[in-house]
Amino acid sequence: MRLSPISLLVTALAVATKPCQAQNSTYYNPVLPGWHSDPSCTQVNGTFFCATSTFIAFPGIPIYASKDLVNWKFISHAWNRETQLPGISWNTWGQQDGMYAPTLRYHDNEFYLICEYLGQSDGTIGVVFKTADPFDDASWSDPVIFRPEKIDPDLFWDDDGKVYAATQGIILQELNLETGELSQPPISLWNGTGGVWPEGPHIYKKDGWYWLLIAEGGTATDHAITIARARNITGPYEAYENNPILTNRGTAEYFQTVGHGDLFQDPAGNWWGMCLATRSGPAFQVFPMGREASLFPVTWNEGEWPVLEPVRGNMSGWALPPASRDIPGDGAFVSDPDAYDFSAEKGPAAIPKHFLHWRVPRDGTFAATADGLRIVPSRNNLTGTPESNTDGVMAGRLGLAFVGRRQTDTLFTFSVDVSAFAPTTPGQEAGISVFLTQLNHIDLAIVKLHDPAKEEAGATKLSFRMRAIGTVAAPEPVLVEVPKAWLDAPIRLEIRAETPMEYTLAAMPASDPGARIVIGKASAALVSGGAGNFVGSLVGAYATCNGLGSGLDCPEGGVAHFTRWRYNGDAQYISATERVPSKRSA
Ligand SMILES: *[C@@H]1O[C@H](CO)[C@@H](O)[C@H](O)[C@H]1NC(C)=O
Ligand SMILES: *[C@@H]1O[C@H](CO)[C@@H](O)[C@H](O)[C@H]1NC(C)=O
Ligand SMILES: *[C@@H]1O[C@H](CO)[C@@H](O)[C@H](O)[C@H]1NC(C)=O
Ligand SMILES: *[C@@H]1O[C@H](CO)[C@@H](O)[C@H](O)[C@H]1NC(C)=O
Ligand SMILES: *[C@@H]1O[C@H](CO)[C@@H](O)[C@H](O)[C@H]1NC(C)=O
Ligand SMILES: *[C@@H]1O[C@H](CO)[C@@H](O)[C@H](O)[C@H]1NC(C)=O
Repeated sequence: MRLSPISLLVTALAVATKPCQAQNSTYYNPVLPGWHSDPSCTQVNGTFFCATSTFIAFPGIPIYASKDLVNWKFISHAWNRETQLPGISWNTWGQQDGMYAPTLRYHDNEFYLICEYLGQSDGTIGVVFKTADPFDDASWSDPVIFRPEKIDPDLFWDDDGKVYAATQGIILQELNLETGELSQPPISLWNGTGGVWPEGPHIYKKDGWYWLLIAEGGTATDHAITIARARNITGPYEAYENNPILTNRGTAEYFQTVGHGDLFQDPAGNWWGMCLATRSGPAFQVFPMGREASLFPVTWNEGEWPVLEPVRGNMSGWALPPASRDIPGDGAFVSDPDAYDFSAEKGPAAIPKHFLHWRVPRDGTFAATADGLRIVPSRNNLTGTPESNTDGVMAGRLGLAFVGRRQTDTLFTFSVDVSAFAPTTPGQEAGISVFLTQLNHIDLAIVKLHDPAKEEAGATKLSFRMRAIGTVAAPEPVLVEVPKAWLDAPIRLEIRAETPMEYTLAAMPASDPGARIVIGKASAALVSGGAGNFVGSLVGAYATCNGLGSGLDCPEGGVAHFTRWRYNGDAQYISATERVPSKRSA
């Protein structure tokens, strides 16, 4: 904005007399767009750090860093090696089990990430990962394991040196960070204000009070943040009379499910919070990105209850720290496009670190090679038999041959070039997908199939095939023969969201995008909620032989190479009717 000399003078005087009241800022939510649920954040030496949930996706628990609260760079995953928790990913059946609801804290020069892993036959596993350098995957420790009774562990150091983990309930136990031992019996602190699932607790000590911030009401449209306080950490806790202190429950807001948050201060001393919210509107039907992380200003005067600004798309609040992208590490900013060319000349040496798989992948499935990003097909396709608890292979438990990144923009274009793919057996396919869970995905593939039109036995042809499965009735599969002139050269497969409601799946010769043909369209409601109401959509590439072969192996010949990988955000919706351009790299 342009200021007149007089308002400049007034602003300068205000700044001189009240340093915390610099000109307020505006910004757009979500600041961590795409699937980023259950954010937990802290500020250290002027850098903000946040962690979010990843369920069965791997690597798990991304850590983002920012100096200005708006530009967030991916810096590491706390769970990045199978050996940190040997075997457990391959022993997880549920689509929404796994690693969730972290708390990120900094204490005595180390970052601590406490979390729980659901879905093991012997119960929930609590984990505490540690690092002195969150910019380096390898420096995250193997976890100290503990056995919580309930989910969503908090981590709080009291002034007397005692360490506490509050969990869902809300119950409190002391936690030994060396041994994982929990004090018994747990102490019931607060049952919330009556909403279901009092959970996601965080304890803060301020002005002689213990403040207990929790989520309740379930993680859908009744979700809310409530607060209580006590003079003693064990209670008794007094609930705030104006609870909930943050919710969009019962409103017509575009940002729904607001809840599960964490509070932290900026270097100027102002308070902020980050919570999850779903861009869906009150009808809550189409929300392929699931639960994203939104930033809100907090006014927390001495001895008083905090005031949390309602979560909207267009926000105004405390002056943001100066804009900066000066963050170490080789990760990508969450709002930046992907432009990767996997080739000998141009290619990145490794698969980008923000790419994800569904469970820990089988060794050797993915490699960045001179011929492209290579994917060795899995026998299970992206659906497999997820309900089967006897056939781990076809269930996809050893990982799908899928690699993707989050859909981070309401409108976007994602494409890859399939450069080398020489299937020998009908059923072998290589393609791209909007993937929410094994029961919610929309795929466009090149597939080898029998050719019934040909006389000779065993005749085959290559086709484009669109298939989908999801929360609402799936469209009929579409088959379009690959034009003869396109064979033997790279073919570009593309998924585009031109509206928030629908994906358009198209194919074209990589050398002639003008020859693009639309194979089909599919509703974004397929990848909203349903079996994936806690997670959010990824877009990525895969290869499968649809159950052919034996053991873990597909028949020879279906290995796929992808060279040019592009993801470009086009626009973010900040309300049902308003959109802003997606951020671009500087
Ligand atoms: C923060 O600053 C302190 C004091 O300079 C230093 O000891 C510490 O290592 C810093 N921590 C991080 C994460 O930058
Ligand atoms: C919470 O509810 C449980 C079960 O009804 C009860 O045992 C416990 O005392 C309650 N806790 C508090 C702090 O009121
Ligand atoms: C806090 O509660 C604990 C256990 O209930 C008790 O032992 C302790 O004396 C209390 N502390 C204060 C300061 O009231
Ligand atoms: C967001 O709000 C500010 C005022 O706080 C306004 O100037 C701006 O135009 C709004 N942006 C959009 C996209 O509506
Ligand atoms: C600036 O933002 C804070 C935090 O939301 C709010 O309390 C304050 O009233 C705002 N100030 C102005 C002048 O709008
Ligand atoms: C995937 O594989 C399963 C089991 O082999 C099969 O029933 C299903 O039709 C296939 N389709 C899709 C879209 O994944």
